[in-house]
Amino acid sequence: MPTPSQALNSATNAQPPVLQGQTALVTGANSGIGEGIARAMAAAGAAVVVNYVSHPEAADTIVDDITAAGGRALALAADVSKEDDVQALFRGAIDAFGTVDILVNNAGMQDDARLVDMTLEQWNRVLAVNLTGQFLCAREAVREFLRRGVRPEVSCAAGKILCISSVHERIPWAGHVNYAVSKGGVMQLMMTMAQELGPHRVRVNSIAPGAIRTPINRSAWETAGAEAALLALIPYGRIGEPDDIGNVAVWLVSDAADYVTGATLFVDGGMTLYPGFATGG
Ligand code: BGC
Repeated sequence: MPTPSQALNSATNAQPPVLQGQTALVTGANSGIGEGIARAMAAAGAAVVVNYVSHPEAADTIVDDITAAGGRALALAADVSKEDDVQALFRGAIDAFGTVDILVNNAGMQDDARLVDMTLEQWNRVLAVNLTGQFLCAREAVREFLRRGVRPEVSCAAGKILCISSVHERIPWAGHVNYAVSKGGVMQLMMTMAQELGPHRVRVNSIAPGAIRTPINRSAWETAGAEAALLALIPYGRIGEPDDIGNVAVWLVSDAADYVTGATLFVDGGMTLYPGFATGG
């Protein structure tokens, strides 16, 4: 059986890569879902900025792999919750590749605690990275999109923003109130930006991943018991892989999805389908 990524590649081999001539800036791209998206967008022909905040060696490996495969990529450090870092990140991307066509607002974190134990620092940090970070990056991206305008030879849109949200923009999550609130905020950030920026030919959408096998949720899948409990929440019967998100992300920022804006696409194996009701209710 081909992996989802092999299936997509063989299906698209006959055509020019869909993101040819465009630059994608992916935040938090040195592991997990961000890495999957960065690799998928590079395979689709985009020059990719691999943003990271720690572990530069992981970002370098991704850049080396993309370059070895004939693509273009650059690793740039920035903490998305810091305005100066974000502005320097966009300057670096534009200096290297001329412009930015696609922003993938992916960087995110969890710092879990029960409400009664959660410190203000835990609350503030998660909101700062997961929500304020998406605002800061989107603002810089939109400034560049509006400055440049549409380049019809590469895309119908002046720019695309893809917010990486979570099933927890919809599903409340006890013990993770800071995270759930940050993703609820991402939902309104995405929709409001889509409404405001549509007239400028900027498309804004979200992917809401379910349980994807990455470092952020290792404790939920690394033991057999944890994995079984997690699978009970997923009607489709498997944990997601970063490729599952990467493939959908490429389509959503490509011109094949030009009329899609303001949408959240749940890529979750059915986690948002109230799986308890399959046998209850
Ligand atoms: C969280 C993961 C979790 C998944 C499903 C994601 O947004 O980061 O830790 O496994 O949602 O609950």
